[in-house]
Amino acid sequence: MFRNRILTKIRAMGRGRRGNNYWGYFSSLGSHKPVASARARAKLGRSWPAAYPFEPADGEEKAMPVVVSFVGQKGGVGKSTLARAFAAVATRGKLKVKLADLDVNQQTAVRWARTRAARGSAYPVEAEAFNTIGDVLASVHGFDLIIVDTPGHASPATLDIARSSQVVILPTGASTDDLYPTVLLLYELEQMGIPKERLAVALCRLLELREEHAARKYVETAGYEALLGSIPERAGYRSAHNLGQSITETNEQSLNRRARTLMESLLEKVMNQLKASKTFQKQQGDGSIA
Ligand SMILES: Nc1ncnc2c1ncn2[C@@H]1O[C@H](COP(=O)(O)OP(=O)(O)O)[C@@H](O)[C@H]1O
Ligand SMILES: [Mg+2]
Repeated sequence: MFRNRILTKIRAMGRGRRGNNYWGYFSSLGSHKPVASARARAKLGRSWPAAYPFEPADGEEKAMPVVVSFVGQKGGVGKSTLARAFAAVATRGKLKVKLADLDVNQQTAVRWARTRAARGSAYPVEAEAFNTIGDVLASVHGFDLIIVDTPGHASPATLDIARSSQVVILPTGASTDDLYPTVLLLYELEQMGIPKERLAVALCRLLELREEHAARKYVETAGYEALLGSIPERAGYRSAHNLGQSITETNEQSLNRRARTLMESLLEKVMNQLKASKTFQKQQGDGSIA
């Protein structure tokens, strides 16, 4: 089963040589450290693999894709940015990825994927616009990972999306104006029955490191998780998008490293959720994985 295989691969990564052991490296950074130290970042740059080492074995069953969604109350906070980055990272990792664009008016992800393909990317991302999460789920056969990008406002559809996702990421800026509605949405999702372990904030478009400290504290004080790392506001990220590249694929290594830190944190979250659902199923006496 695909999700079992992902977990097996994580364990294997944990046993890797120190230079290649980037998962272990991240866990050693600790959940409260805002960004990796300069030394850690230097190491990360060296240890970042060309491809995530969890490509499916031939003939393995892949019937149940993992769903990761990016939701929020506002436009322009980084939903499509992170969805595109995660799609690029996982595609490079040889997962079969579908980037599902539910923002049918803007179709940022679809247009970006088109540019990416037109520019001859070695890692084209398959993106498609859908009206509802139901439509997405009806057409995901054969995919490993479904990444759901959503419009810039929460609606009843947001709850449906969250219910269908193993992990729900809320990108947010660092001002109280951004953080307050983000935490409110987290609270609403939790009230509607989404386990809070599935939810996490991603801090985006920061201008200073101290913004990250304060924003992280705000989120954690409210009782929620902020992914390790943050995305600074940089023109280089916009330029990358214009060329069909992701924020992990800019021309500036320092920007790529920042983005990769957050992607690693997100991957770890996804893995942890898969592990948790496996344990839950075992406790229920059911061998299958939710
Ligand atoms: N960290 C950043 N630095 C610079 N530009 C950014 C950054 N994050 C996003 N952008 C740009 O801002 C715009 C809105 O971002 P996007 O991720 O599409 O927001 P959302 O999907 O939440 O509405 C895009 O043009 C994107 O390229
Ligand atoms: Mg968007």
